[in-house]
Parts: sequence; structure tokens; C-alpha cells
Amino acid sequence: MKKVKIALMGLGNVGTGVWMILDSNKKEIMKRSGYDVEVAKILVRNKDKKRDVEVPEEIITTDFNDILEDDSIKIVIEVMGGIEPAKEYMLKCMDRNKHIVTANKMLIATEGDELFEKAHDKGVVFNYEASVAGGIPIIKGIEESLTANKIEEFYGIVNGTTNYILSKMQLERLNFDVALKQAQDMGYAEADPTSDIEGFDAQYKLAILSSLAFGTKVDVNNVYREGITKIESIDMKYAKKFDMVIKLLAIAKESNGKLELKVQPTMIPKEHPLANVYDSFNAIFIKGNAVGDLMFYGRGAGSLPTGSAVVGDIVAILRSNVDVANYSHIAQNDLWHREIQNISESHSKFYIRITVIDQPGVLGEITTILGKYNVSLRSVIQKGEENSKGQVTIVLFTHKTSEADVSSAIEELMNLKPVITIDNVIRIEDFKN
Ligand code: HSE
Repeated sequence: MKKVKIALMGLGNVGTGVWMILDSNKKEIMKRSGYDVEVAKILVRNKDKKRDVEVPEEIITTDFNDILEDDSIKIVIEVMGGIEPAKEYMLKCMDRNKHIVTANKMLIATEGDELFEKAHDKGVVFNYEASVAGGIPIIKGIEESLTANKIEEFYGIVNGTTNYILSKMQLERLNFDVALKQAQDMGYAEADPTSDIEGFDAQYKLAILSSLAFGTKVDVNNVYREGITKIESIDMKYAKKFDMVIKLLAIAKESNGKLELKVQPTMIPKEHPLANVYDSFNAIFIKGNAVGDLMFYGRGAGSLPTGSAVVGDIVAILRSNVDVANYSHIAQNDLWHREIQNISESHSKFYIRITVIDQPGVLGEITTILGKYNVSLRSVIQKGEENSKGQVTIVLFTHKTSEADVSSAIEELMNLKPVITIDNVIRIEDFKN
């Protein structure tokens, strides 16, 4: 049996999962890869930290040079996260002809080009399956299994924390703060949950996936982003009245020759497969011009699911027999130039919830303004009882309309005297063009 030495940079949640899988599935991995994989070094910040796994003391190091300068280490696994020093370490490792496996979505989405170029120049493999949707094999799914297709569009629930929160709000009628607290107690949401609830995490993942699916470089700043903090249980209630649910979707589709890339809370029909993805699960619904509709479903986070993707990437390197430099492949994320649409050019159906003073003629004034901007209404709900201040809620569902028109109409509505607040505006996706 051939032996290969690898190193881990990071022994947190994901690193621990990688170690556990390499240990518990050792026999299977040997058979499947043809290699006996030895973890020769593990880089940690603090040697004395208590760990969930027992690791021989002699392989733990706090000195990156122990990995860099050991030419017998062929593959380096980066699971430390963050931009620096992860980026510098990976670049240096590639300079020493080491192959890389990483789970670092933020780094790939924001500064990946430099890493991909280095891998190409040095002829090493750079695998990053674990960076999107944890254990779901979506990167290889798109890059390899679906390569015969033109991907027309995809819709993803790629953030487990927000899906957990929205599930609780929908199914148990919890309000946002309580659901967030539960997500934190369950260990899904971080103490500072900004990256998840404001949609940054999903934005990185959408940039990575759309780049592969459409074969083009995607600047993450061109991906429109909205988080879920404005969603209230009452929005869930109105969605239900119209047989819909609210999900944080990462949407990628072609629109007038450009790419439309958006992360946004979205109302979707309750019978759509994505509507039934609950709890912290992830799913990606893809339409390919040959394969048709396809859905990937599974755990998007957690030490073993993410570790499963990392170890899969290691085995892929071993199977491809590239333990020396000169590996060369066609970068699937940089084949063509594609324009990315600005959100103002986008068209959607909208849900608009407004609080108004209950007086004659208000609805007329609202619809006049909407009409002025070509916003056509599909339904209107006015809640029967007014509150103690004489205010009522009006909910509007529009037909498909331009984002720019809706924004102008809303701006004008806000200046209307009887309008107290525009409480929420949520886009609707019915998966029909
Ligand atoms: N924080 C992410 C989520 C997991 O909630 O899905 C890591 O990508």
C-alpha cells in the first residue's frame, strides 16, 4: 500500500470532523484511494486547548513552517477559516508544490482568483467542495456530473442557520429574536450572527456556485444581498394565506442576456420542493438544459458533513494520481465573460405590507400611485380590525414588475399622509418565467 502524508491547518469543528472520518473510515479510504493516508502535522493556534478528539501530541504544531518545509507532505487541508493567514499559507504551500483542499468560502468568494491562478501556475490541485453547502456534493455536481449541460438557473437554500430560524418562525410561529436565540443555543448561529442573518454567508456561496455553473468570474460585490432580519411572523402568516412560504434563497438565472444573482428572503409556493426544506438543512434546485430539474439536499454544516466533503476532495486528489506537479485542468469558473445584472434591472412579483390610517380613500390613493409606476396588483388584503391608534394593515401582491418601478412607487407611498409605515417588501418567486 502506497503511503501519503497530508497536513491539517486548523483543528476546530471541521478539522475535527476530518480527523474523525480519516480515522473511522480508514479502511474504506485506503481501498478507495489506493493510499494509506497519514496526517503528519496539524497546525493549531493553541497547543493546550482541550479537543474533542485524541490526537498524538507530536503531530500538533503551532509553527506553519513545520508543514511548509516538509516536502514529504503532499496535500494540505486548510480548515482554519478567515482570509489571513489562510491565504498566505495556501499560496506558500502551492509554491512548494503541495495540493490544497479548503473549506474557506469567504476567501474563495472574495480573493479566490489569486489562489486559482497560483494552483494553475504551479500545476497543483485546488479543491474546495466543502466551501458550499457542507456535505452536499454540489461543486463536483456542477463541475463534473452536470458538465454536459447549460445550467439555466438554480435556487439554493445554502445557509442552515437562517433556514432553521425561518422554519421555526413558520412552523412554531416564533418571532425572529426567539428563533435566533434558539439557533444560537443549538450551536447553528454564532454569537455574532451577522454573516448568516444578513446573508453574507449565502452571498459568498452564491458567488462560488454561479461562477462554476455559468463558467464566469463573479465579483461577489455584484451579487445582490438582503438578509432575513426584516421578516416577521406576520409575513409568514400572510404568505400562508396565499399558499406560500418564506425562504432565504440564493438565486442565479439568465435574464436578458445577463446573469441575475440575488440572495434575498423570497416567497415561494408551498408545493415547491425547496419550500419543504426545513430546519438547518440545505438544498440546491438546478435546471440544466439536458438533465432538467434536479435537487441536491443535505446537511450544509457540521463537522462530519463538512468533513465528508473535505475527505472526498483528498481522495479525489489521490485517485487522480497527481502527487507531482504539472497537473493541469481547464478552470471551469473562468471560461467566458458574463455581465451581471444590477438589481434595479430585475423583475419580480412583490408582496408589500403597509400600515395605514383607516380612512376613506386610502386604498384608492395607494393604487393610484402604484398604477402611475405600472405596478399592477394581483390581490389586496385589508385586515378587518384597526388597532388602538386607528391603523390597519394592507397587504398587496403585485404582478411581475420592474424593481426600479416598485422602488419609485414605494418612495412615493412613504410620503402619502395616511401611510404610517411600509412594513415589508418581499419578492415572490413562482418559478415561472
Ligand atoms: N454558517 C453556515 C450556515 C455554515 O449556517 O449554513 C457554514 O457555511
